[in-house]
This record gives sequence, C-alpha cells and structure tokens, in this order.
Amino acid sequence: MIFSNLDKEMIWHPFTQERTAKNIICAKKALGAYIYDQNDKAYLDLISSWWVNIHGHANAEIANSIYKQAKTLEHVIFAGFTHETAINLCKSLRTILPLKLAKFFFSDNGSTSVEVAIKMAYQYWRNLGYRDKSIFLSFEGGYHGDTFGAMSVGKKSGFHDQFKDLFFKVLAIPYADTWDDDREIEAKETQAIKVLQKYLKQYKGKIAAIVLEPLIQGAGGMRVCRVEFLQNIIKLVRENEILIIFDEVMTGFGRTGTHFAFEKLSDITPDFLCLSKGITGGFLPLALTITGDNIYEAFLGDDFSTAFAHGHSYTANPLACSAAIASFNLLMKAECKAAIQNINDTHHAGIKFLKKQCALIEKPRIIGTISAFDVKVPKDLVPTISAKLLSEGLLLRPLSNTIYLLPPYCISKKELENAYDKIGEVLNSFR
Ligand SMILES: Cc1ncc(COP(=O)(O)O)c(C=O)c1O
Repeated sequence: MIFSNLDKEMIWHPFTQERTAKNIICAKKALGAYIYDQNDKAYLDLISSWWVNIHGHANAEIANSIYKQAKTLEHVIFAGFTHETAINLCKSLRTILPLKLAKFFFSDNGSTSVEVAIKMAYQYWRNLGYRDKSIFLSFEGGYHGDTFGAMSVGKKSGFHDQFKDLFFKVLAIPYADTWDDDREIEAKETQAIKVLQKYLKQYKGKIAAIVLEPLIQGAGGMRVCRVEFLQNIIKLVRENEILIIFDEVMTGFGRTGTHFAFEKLSDITPDFLCLSKGITGGFLPLALTITGDNIYEAFLGDDFSTAFAHGHSYTANPLACSAAIASFNLLMKAECKAAIQNINDTHHAGIKFLKKQCALIEKPRIIGTISAFDVKVPKDLVPTISAKLLSEGLLLRPLSNTIYLLPPYCISKKELENAYDKIGEVLNSFR
C-alpha cells in the first residue's frame, strides 16, 4: 500500500492515463516465468514483461555475465573507443545472420533502432546524390516506437495521433492480416498490392525505404500476415529501388520459431534489421541496427559531411553487451530450441481447447511462441477481463480486443496449459 501511494506521488508511468489508473502492482522479485508482488503473490508472466524476458526473469547465467563484466569494464565512450564485449556480441550474431548483414550500429531501445535505420536510409540516398528520395512506406497498423521517425512510420497504428502534424511523409499500405479459417485473405492481399502499385507509380523515384514488422505486427494487435503476401510486397519494392527496413524488435531472437522472422521469407534479406527487446533477455537496454557494406560505404568520405551523425551516451554499453552474449548463448542451446517448439505445440493445443470451450473466441493465430485471439465482447469490458486474469495470477495485457500469449521460453508445458485452462474459465465467466 505504502509503495502504491509513493508511486502515485512521484512517478509518471508510460502509456498510462494517470487519473484513472488503479491497482498498480509493486514487484518485489521475479524468477523464471513468475513475478512476485510485495505480498509474495505470484503472477505468471505470459507477456515476458513487454516482450523482453525471453529466458524468463533473473536468469543466473545472464546475471553472472553482467556481474563479471561490471568488475572489468562497466562503460566506455563508443566514439574513439571500442571494447571486446561489443565485438564478441557482433561476432556471435554474425553466426546466425546472412553475410550481407555485416555492419552493426548500436543504440539502446527499439524506437532508436528504427530511428537509426530511417535516418541511415534517408542519408544513404542523399550521400549518393538522390535528394528527392524522402518518402517512406509502411503498413497500416504497424508500430515502431515512440520517437518521431518511428512514430511517423507508425502513423496508422493509432498510438500517436496527438503528434501527427509533426510527422514526415509516409505512405501507409493496407495490412492483409489473417487468421485460421480466414476466407477473405486473397481479396485483402490483392487490395493491398493494388494500393502499393498505385503509390509506386505516383511517387516513382521519391521513396527512400519501407519499414515493416515481418509476418506479425505486435502492438497493432498481434496481426499475422502470410509469407507470400510479404514476398510479393518486397518484390515490388525491390524492383523500385526502395530500401527495406525490417523491424524485428519484437520478433527477433526466436519469438516466431526461427532466430528472426525474416528467415521464413526464404531468400529475402533486408537492408536494415532492427533488434532490441529480447536481445539482453530483459536485463538491460540495448539495440542494434544491422546493415550491409553497401550502405556503410555510402557514408565514407574525407570529411564529416557524409558521416552518420547519430549516437547515444549508452551506445554499446559493455554490461548490456555482456547480457546479450549470455542471452545469445542460452538461445543457441538445444534445450532452448526444444522449449520454443514446446511452446508452439502447447499454443496449438491451448487454442484448440479455447475454441471448443469458449464461444467468445475468434480469429485465432499462432506464430512460433506467440498465440493470439480476439474476444467477442464490448471493448470497454476488456480491462475488467484483464483485471480478473491478473487477480487469478496471469499477467496478460490485451491489445484492444486481442488477448495474446508471448511467454518466456523457460515456461513449462504444465504452466502454459494451466494458463489456457484459467483463461477459458475467466472468459466463460463473462458470457
Ligand atoms: C516492433 C516494435 N518496434 C519498436 C518498438 C519500440 O521499442 P521500445 O519500446 O524499446 O522503444 C516496439 C515496442 O513495442 C515494437 O514492438
């Protein structure tokens, strides 16, 4: 109680209407798939705490790696200096990335990883002498973060309407999202492609890049699209000399079953890959914008005028890099790959069960370790449902009418099965 009062007195929370927000939980500790409050009540973290704790909470290997690093080199300016931990992290990541993605630019959150890609794409064309290429493409419903560039390309996410007068020009393509038994998908995809073709004709030579979340839009409502849809979009975009930015801030590091979602697109490698969230297993903020030598070389010159003038104080922080290496090593273990498969299997069984048990469920979709479905209730009932789930010890954070599960890889089959049982019970109590 005392903590919630002190919190109310001093702290301004993100994405929160401070007047009406209530029942804030003060976390005392967290371990594995659970977060514990001041009264030791356990909450099963079914969303990996804003999608970051891929290996669960307080993982000992990551903690030890940070501890060791902290005693050696906790931080160093990353201009004019480098350090072994950043280099080792890049070396590790290169083992699972296509050869083309060879240059790593560090920042410290998902929004800035996208911001950096947008700025690099824009400046790339300018450095090559193309002064007209200043428009960006993105998908309706895409969310890329809260800095101005990221908000501009996410302008149709519905999160940033207050700021829309300040955005640069972005053309939004309809997003052909799909789900089990979707009969309209072909029509939706055809319509989206038509809109893109219209833009490509109208703005020929003026589009710098496309920014998109491959295969699943996260904050936009865990909306999944088909591989062939994205392949067709990318083909058209490539034919028009437009750079490709894949925002894998949420999907990176095993979330969709492969290391990165774009691996499912066979033979498509983006010009920029944006990573954050799961990169340190949720321990410390870190982000990467990874690109190719062809982009990097366009910034080389004899004076500063063509250099990339962007950086952050905590760029490539050694503690964060050490956490990322430890998290990477865990991800490479056979147990982790088996756990990811196990979650996927359990999602399939869980969604099947819910569909049978609960008439409120619609539009189920699963990709890798993420499952989602919509609930047929009035939107204003969703916060009550989510509060009820929380009181039952399940941390879920529905996006509008969409309930999704994106658990840490350490969750057990039993824990996840029980979660589905409880979700079914809770939802049925609202029928
Ligand atoms: C796909 C995607 N991109 C970017 C971001 C922004 O990341 P951050 O909150 O770390 O700035 C998010 C956050 O949810 C995201 O899901």
